[in-house]
Parts: sequence; structure tokens; C-alpha cells
Amino acid sequence: MTVRNFIDTQDLTKAEILDIVDLGLTLKKCVQVGYFPPLLHGRTLGMIFEQSSTRTRVSFETAMSQLGGHAQYLAPGQIQLGGHESIEDTARVLSRLVDVVMARVARHQTVVDLAAHATIPVLNGMSDYNHPTQEIGDLITMVEHLPAGKRLEDCKVVFVGDATQVCASLMMITTKMGMEFAQFGPERFQLRESLQDLGRANCAVSGGSILVTDDAHKALEGADFVYTDVWYGDYEAELGEAERLAVFMPKYQVNAELMALAGEGAKFMHCLPATRGEEVTDEVLDSAYSLAFDEAGNRLTAQRALLVYFLRPEVVNPVKVDDARAELEHVLAGIL
Ligand code: CP
Repeated sequence: MTVRNFIDTQDLTKAEILDIVDLGLTLKKCVQVGYFPPLLHGRTLGMIFEQSSTRTRVSFETAMSQLGGHAQYLAPGQIQLGGHESIEDTARVLSRLVDVVMARVARHQTVVDLAAHATIPVLNGMSDYNHPTQEIGDLITMVEHLPAGKRLEDCKVVFVGDATQVCASLMMITTKMGMEFAQFGPERFQLRESLQDLGRANCAVSGGSILVTDDAHKALEGADFVYTDVWYGDYEAELGEAERLAVFMPKYQVNAELMALAGEGAKFMHCLPATRGEEVTDEVLDSAYSLAFDEAGNRLTAQRALLVYFLRPEVVNPVKVDDARAELEHVLAGIL
């Protein structure tokens, strides 16, 4: 059987992404009623971290244990990767020791190379280019909080601030799903043209749209979801903290005044961790319309789905093993 990796949502179709979302919501319901389907019994996840993490690390480990499997935390400096042993050899070795690898890496090429040389699924737990597991959790959160009478395709999502990898990822998933995406950011810190081209290509297929602007009114008008991330992008090395704050503050801070431009009913999202008082105020982050903490909870919803989807594709592939899916649905129907 061909091994599939999860490096970039651009490698998946809209239908496949929706399958993952549906699987995540089904497994979430199972866990909420106290049923932990042992779909990953006996399986082990190796989690490579070149950088620190709270949400990604904890959600993957919890997902594995809830589904009957086990996870190993391979912290920065704990394995040979990046030292004496090459990425290629690390991939070959881990393929013989665990069933799936998740890697958070400093450079995107590292996770691409791991996947190229592994014979087990490799999942991208964030690189300097994108954050696809965050994308799935974010999409699930939006599905759970759709405005009354709207489908995903009817929604507008606005990213405020720097063109971080989370901004790029949000653009990729929303344009792929046929949504309206806007980035409201200062000129030097907007999504680069090559990324906007990807978004425009997605929109040509999906019917979505993409706008990148430093005009707050144009960006925020009619927004259903307003999203932000920290103000530390590629430029961090060339700008000190005072210069960085001068670029973004106060125009790009998500505060109550900025949220008012989106209109009533708009929800606030943040991948977290947040720098309170910089990109977002306490008033917004702790508001009734803030989804940020439920969004963090949905990292777990996403990881359960991704692990099952890539480790047990027969569960969600109705073409090859229709019976397996039917069997799972039968089991789930009995307990829901
Ligand atoms: N949003 C996110 O990826 O959080 P961590 O860095 O804590 O994993």
C-alpha cells in the first residue's frame, strides 16, 4: 500500500479535507460520550521536536493514548537528528522503530526530506513554511461555529498582522475550501506573491477569493472570523522589538475597536500562544466571541483524525474497504 504523508494541505483535495474534518468530529463525539475507539491499538508515534511546543506536543500524545496507541517525545537534542546522523538515515531508522512520525522543524526542507526517506507516514507539526495540523483544527473550529444559515463557502476569514506560516496556512485552507480570505497587514509583512499565487490557483478551482491589503475597512468588512498570530516573522532578525512594535502597533492590534469593523457576530481566533497586549488585547482574547481556547482544544480533534486517516486509511476510504468504514459507522452509531 502506498504511504501518504501530511506535509501540506495543498496535497489534499477539498473532499479529502472534509473527510478528515468529519472523522475528527465523529471521534470527538465518541470521546465526549466516553468511548475511545481503539483504532491505533499497538501503534507508536515518534514526535520529533526541533522547537518547543505546548499544543502540538500535548494534543498528539493525548490523541495517540485515547485511540489505544503510544507516543514518544523526541525533544530537541534528544536524538541524533541534526548532529551526527543525517535526516535520511533518521527517516530510515524511525521507519523500522515506530509506525508514524510527526516532526516540528525549523526548516521546511527537513520534514520534506524526512518524508522522502521514510517508509511510514510523516506528519508536519509546523515548519517555517506552514502549519497544516493547525489548519485542520482551525477548519474544524469554524465548522463548529458557522454563522446561522451559512456554509463554509459563504464565510469570510480575515487574518490580521504578519504573514507568518500560520497566516499562509490559513490562506491555503480557506481558499481551498472556497471561502473568502483576506490578510490585513503592513506592506512589508504581507503574504509574498508566490503564496498569493497558490491562493489564487485554489480559488480558481474552489470559487473562493483572496485579498491582501493594509486597508482595515476593506479587509474586515463582513468578516465572520478574525484571526491573528504573534508579530514575529522572518524579519525578526532584522528588526528589534521596538521597531517591530512600531510597525504593527496600534493599527494591527486586534482590539474591540478593530473587531467592531467586522460587525456583529464575528468570532475571534488565534493559534496561540498569544502575546497579550500586543497582537490581541485581553478584552478580545477573553471575550464571549473568542474561539481561541476551543480552537486549541480542537488541535486534539484534528490530531485524532489525522492519525487515523494516515495510519488507518482503510477506515476512511470507502472505495478500497467500504466494509471497514461501514463497520466503524455501525459501531459508532451504536454508541452515539
Ligand atoms: N499553535 C501551536 O502550534 O502551538 P504550540 O507551538 O504550543 O504547539
